[in-house]
Amino acid sequence: MAFKINDTVSWVGKIDWELKKFHGEEYSTHKGSSYNSYLIRDEKTVLIDTVWLPFAEEFVQNLRKEIDLNKIDYIIANHGEVDHSGALTELMKYIPDTPIYCTANGVKSIKGQYHKDWNFQVVKTGDRLNIGSKELAFIEAQMLHWPDTMFTYLTGDNILFSNDGFGQHLATELMYNDLVDQAELFNECQKYYANILTPFSKMVDRKIKEVVALNLPISMICPSHGVIWRDNPLQIVHKYLEWAADYQENQITIIYDTMWNGTRKMAENIARGIRLADDKVTVKLYNSARRDKTDIMAEVFKSKTIIVGSPTVNKGVLSSVAGALEEIKGLGFKNKKAAAFGTYGWSGESVKVITEWLKESKFEVLNDGLKLFWNPDDSGEEACVNFGKEIALK
Ligand code: FEO
Repeated sequence: MAFKINDTVSWVGKIDWELKKFHGEEYSTHKGSSYNSYLIRDEKTVLIDTVWLPFAEEFVQNLRKEIDLNKIDYIIANHGEVDHSGALTELMKYIPDTPIYCTANGVKSIKGQYHKDWNFQVVKTGDRLNIGSKELAFIEAQMLHWPDTMFTYLTGDNILFSNDGFGQHLATELMYNDLVDQAELFNECQKYYANILTPFSKMVDRKIKEVVALNLPISMICPSHGVIWRDNPLQIVHKYLEWAADYQENQITIIYDTMWNGTRKMAENIARGIRLADDKVTVKLYNSARRDKTDIMAEVFKSKTIIVGSPTVNKGVLSSVAGALEEIKGLGFKNKKAAAFGTYGWSGESVKVITEWLKESKFEVLNDGLKLFWNPDDSGEEACVNFGKEIALK
């Protein structure tokens, strides 16, 4: 149902308490999510974004309780991805001629998905739309995180509708950033940044600096997922700048999979060696077959070094390790170090395969890796401890 933000703006989105996975099965949403849509009432009435397709009918029915749909003068589509444009088809059944303001790339993505020739109005950075006593100003935000993305700024109320930017997958009826658990909020924000925005960090940095240079007063940031930033809204902007600058903490993350526990024993002894050499560093171990990939990528994002291990299988690595390495490569992390390890019974290619993968992913590979024949014995465990020590000291 609708939630009044101020005299002009109401939230008319959908809180999705049940969402477990997003982007198909790619992104884990342990805390659910929301699809935030906003209704602006000035002399003109404006709808900013809609909700994910499965909630289209519910969204439109709820919207009809809030306003006569024929009174909506303009629709703003900040981003064409289906979690925000998914209710357009249902909505446009009632108001087929209502103009939809979006970027040129927005037209392509919305037409490409819904194959409808709606009344698109293309906008670009600097364009403004008068809605009575206030204006909407459009700011293209290409690759944050799609080519079509834009922000919309409401003058007078000084609200930035930032779509995915500054959002988080967090279902909460509390609505505002200052009302929720802060650790949970920033954890979800960082996981979102790590998994969605890392490849575009340079553009994030550039775009934020461009928006800051506009000197727009910002009293609130209303993203399309999660809470509204009303308390010190620029704090999340500053976090983004920090995260965009090849972020890392004093953490080493060991990612591995194991068939008969040999590679697990290696991982645990490498971790022991790291701690013996440096008791200040945080060491975390993740079995890539048993832990969530999105969470693992959030840990890679925080790490200064990752150590990746797999036994050799069919001259390569276990599939969960391959999946993690592929994801790491795609996210394009910068300024991180890495090493490889693994057990083998006969051919023993896994360490070389992992090392090559890490190099291709632009990690600084610290050594030739460590491979052990079958299960580690006492001397094998000692080799792992020394390997961990050596990495910690680098
Ligand atoms: Fe929340 Fe890129 O969609």
